[in-house]
Amino acid sequence: MLSYSLVLLLFSRVILTAAADSIGIKLQNGFERVYIQPYGENGLRVRTSLMRDPTGNEWSALIDPPLEGPGGNAGLAYDTLIPYNGNGSITNGNIVASVTFGQLSFWRIEEDGGLSALTREFTDTKALPARYYSQYDASSSFQVDLSFTSDVDEQFYGTGQQACCSDASVNKKGQVVDFVNFNSHVTMPLYISNRGYLQLFNMPSQGRLEFGQGRTRYHAQETSVVDYYISTAAPGDYDTLQKQLTSVTGRQPTPPEFLLGYQQSKLRYYSQDQVLEVAQRFHDEQIPVSLLVVDFFAWKYQGDWSFDPTYFPDPAAMAAQVKELTGAEMMVSLWPSVEDASENYLTLQTEGLLATTRDGTGIQDSFNGAYIRLVDSTNPASREFLWNRLNDSYYSKGIHNFWIDQADGGSLGEPFVNNGAYITGIPYARTFTQYFAGTQEAVGMVYPWLQQQAIDEGIRNLTGTDAASTSCPYMSLTRGTWIGGQRYCSYLWSGDTTSDWPVLLQQITAGVSVGASGISSWTLDIGGFSRLNIDTDEGKELYVRWFGMGVFLPYMRTHGDRTCDLPRPEGVPQGNPCPNEPWSYGEDNFEILKDYIALRYQLIPYVTKLFSDLQASGRTILRALYYDFSLSDAHVVEGTGSHDKQIMGEYMFGPRILVAPVYLPGVSTWEVYLPSIPRSYIDQGWTWTHWWSETDFGLGGGNVTVDAPLGEIPVFYLGSKDDIFSGNV
Ligand SMILES: *[C@@H]1O[C@H](CO)[C@@H](O)[C@H](O)[C@H]1NC(C)=O
Ligand SMILES: *[C@@H]1O[C@H](CO)[C@@H](O)[C@H](O)[C@H]1NC(C)=O
Ligand SMILES: *[C@@H]1O[C@H](CO)[C@@H](O)[C@H](O)[C@H]1NC(C)=O
Ligand SMILES: *[C@@H]1O[C@H](CO)[C@@H](O)[C@H](O)[C@H]1NC(C)=O
Repeated sequence: MLSYSLVLLLFSRVILTAAADSIGIKLQNGFERVYIQPYGENGLRVRTSLMRDPTGNEWSALIDPPLEGPGGNAGLAYDTLIPYNGNGSITNGNIVASVTFGQLSFWRIEEDGGLSALTREFTDTKALPARYYSQYDASSSFQVDLSFTSDVDEQFYGTGQQACCSDASVNKKGQVVDFVNFNSHVTMPLYISNRGYLQLFNMPSQGRLEFGQGRTRYHAQETSVVDYYISTAAPGDYDTLQKQLTSVTGRQPTPPEFLLGYQQSKLRYYSQDQVLEVAQRFHDEQIPVSLLVVDFFAWKYQGDWSFDPTYFPDPAAMAAQVKELTGAEMMVSLWPSVEDASENYLTLQTEGLLATTRDGTGIQDSFNGAYIRLVDSTNPASREFLWNRLNDSYYSKGIHNFWIDQADGGSLGEPFVNNGAYITGIPYARTFTQYFAGTQEAVGMVYPWLQQQAIDEGIRNLTGTDAASTSCPYMSLTRGTWIGGQRYCSYLWSGDTTSDWPVLLQQITAGVSVGASGISSWTLDIGGFSRLNIDTDEGKELYVRWFGMGVFLPYMRTHGDRTCDLPRPEGVPQGNPCPNEPWSYGEDNFEILKDYIALRYQLIPYVTKLFSDLQASGRTILRALYYDFSLSDAHVVEGTGSHDKQIMGEYMFGPRILVAPVYLPGVSTWEVYLPSIPRSYIDQGWTWTHWWSETDFGLGGGNVTVDAPLGEIPVFYLGSKDDIFSGNV
C-alpha cells in the first residue's frame, strides 16, 4: 500500500502533461509489444503480443467501430512510442491509463479533476510479472496470466452465468471462475467492480479468473494475442457502464412481440399429433400461448437437421394448424452433433465442415448410442450449410424459431460425461478439438456464439433484415453464448437445472449476473429441468411458485423433463410422456396458472419498454439490488458483498418492479427487504407498494412481511401501476 498516494502524486504530474487526444500508445518492451488505444466512451483497449504485432480475429467480441465514442477502424495506430521501462499516459473521456517503468495503471478523472485509482498491474518484487507469457507449443500461441490489483473489500459482479446450484452469489470476490462451457455454465471473462469500472478480455480461450484478496488474475490457456477492454463510470452508476459495454460489444435487437407472451415447451412432444392436441387444448381453454416448442430427437439421426417423417409427416401443415388454432409460432431444437448414419455426414466430412481432433478420428463425444462429431460453427461454410438445412426442413415450412441446444463446444457440453456410456463419475476432459478458427483451448468459448451467428444471419438473409437492424423477426434460444452475444436475435436460458427449491433461489443470481455481463435476453425452465414429479404435492407447489417468477422474467418459458406415473412409449428415443401444460398440475393450480399467464400478457407493454431501453442504451433488465440501490442503501451493498440470502433472493425486473420469489416449501407469508429508495425516486413521489394488496410500504430501508399464497408471488412496485401496464416507465 506504500506506493498508493505516492504513485497517485507522481502520475498526476504525468497526466497533466499528457496529450488528451492521443490515438494510441505503443510500448516496445523487449520481445513484447503493448498497444493502448481509446475505445468507445471512457474506455481503453489494450492489446499485447510477442515478437510481432497483435492481429484481429473474425470472432472478436469487440465491434469496430464502436457504436459510440472514439476508436473506430484505428488498427494499431499510435502516436506515442514508449521504450523499454518507459513512461507515458493516454486519456479517453474520464479514463486514463498511465505507464510507469512499463507497468500499466488505470484511473478515473473525477468531476473536480482529481484522479481515482481503479486498478493497476499487480507487481511485487517476489511475484510473477503482471503480464506473464509462457509458450509450450510448437506454435506462435502462448498461455498468459494477467494480474491486476484489487482491494480486499472490493466487489466484482458479472462473469456470465453460473447456474448450479450452491452458487447463490453475485459478488465473485474470493471465487474462481472456470472458462469452459458446459450445460448451465456460460462463464465470461467480464466483470464490473463496485469501484466504478468494467473489464473484459476479448479472448475466447479456455482458462479462468481468480478473484484473490489483493489480486485478480486472468488465465488464458492458449491465445496468440492479449486483448482487453476497460471503461469507467462513477461508482454505483451501472447503467452507464452497461451503455459503454454494449457500445463496444453490441446491443440487443428487440424481440418480436409474440416471444414476450407465454412459451410452452416440455421434453418432449414427440409427434405431430401431440403438438396438435396441445394446440387444440390451448384453443379450447382459451389460454393465450405464443410459442410451441418441439424438443430434441424429433430427428431420425443426429446431424440430419430435419424431422423424422415417421413422427412428423407434414411439418408445414402442423405449423399452419398450430397458428390457426392458437396464433402461436413454433420453435424446433437442433443439436450440433453429427453421427455417421446421418444423411449429411458424408458431405460434411468430405467438405471439411466438421470439427476434428488433434489426436485421432475427430470424435468429440457420444450420445444415444452413437459416436458423434461436431459441426464446425467457426467455419462460415459450415454455418451456411447448417442454415440451408434448417431452412429446407423447418424455416421454409413455417417453423421460424430455433433452439440451439448442447452447442457448448468441444463436446456435447456436459462437464465430464461420456453420454453414450451412461457413465458420469469418470473425470473425462474435452477432446483436443480442432476448428477452422483454432483449437478448443484457444477459441472454444466462442463456439456457441457462432451458432447464434449462423441462425441470426440465416434469418436476416431470408427476411431481408440486415445485421444493423435493431429488431428481430424471429429468434433462437441458446444454451451457450459469449461476450457480445446480445447483438444476435437470440436469447439464453439457464440450461438443465434441477427442480429443487435452492435452485429456484440460485436462478436469481444466475440471471442478474449474466445480465450484468451484457446478456439481458435471458430466461429459464419454469419448474426446473430435471426431477420434477408432477404427481406429488411438493412438485406441484414448486412448479406454481416458479411459474409466478416466470411472469417477471424477460421471457416466460416453461420446460422440463418431468416425471410421472405414465409408462414410457416403446421404441421412441428419449420419449417422455409426462405432461407439462398449465392444466397438468391440478385443478386449483390450473386457475392460478391461467391468472399468471393473463398477468404476463398485461405486462407486455412494460416488457416491451424494457427491451426497447435495452436496445437503445444497454440498460439491464434483470437487476440485482446493487444496481439501483448501492448509493441509497448501505445494507444492500453489505448484503451483496456477504451473499446475504435475503438480498440474493430479490431482484428488480426493470426500473419499477421488485420481485422476491418464494423459494421455500410450505410457507404462507414471506419476509421481504425493501431497499431505501434514492432521492430522485422520492422526488417523483414514488413509494414501495405491494402488488396484490396495494398496501403502501413507504420509502424502504427495512423488512416487511406480506401474505404469499401460491397465486401471489411477493412483488412490489414503484410509481403508478397504470404507468407500468401502459409501458410508460
Ligand atoms: C518514469 O516515472 C518514474 C515515476 O515518476 C520516474 O521515477 C522515472 O524517472 C521516469 N522515467 C523516465 C525515463 O522518465
Ligand atoms: C447469408 O448471405 C450471405 C451473402 O449471400 C452469405 O455469404 C452467408 O453465408 C449467408 N448466411 C447463411 C448463414 O446462410
Ligand atoms: C430456403 O428454402 C426454400 C424452400 O426450399 C428455397 O426456395 C430457398 O432457396 C431456400 N433459401 C436458402 C437461402 O437456402
Ligand atoms: C429481515 O428478514 C430476514 C429474512 O427473514 C432476516 O434474516 C433478517 O434478520 C430480517 N431483518 C430484520 C432487521 O428484521
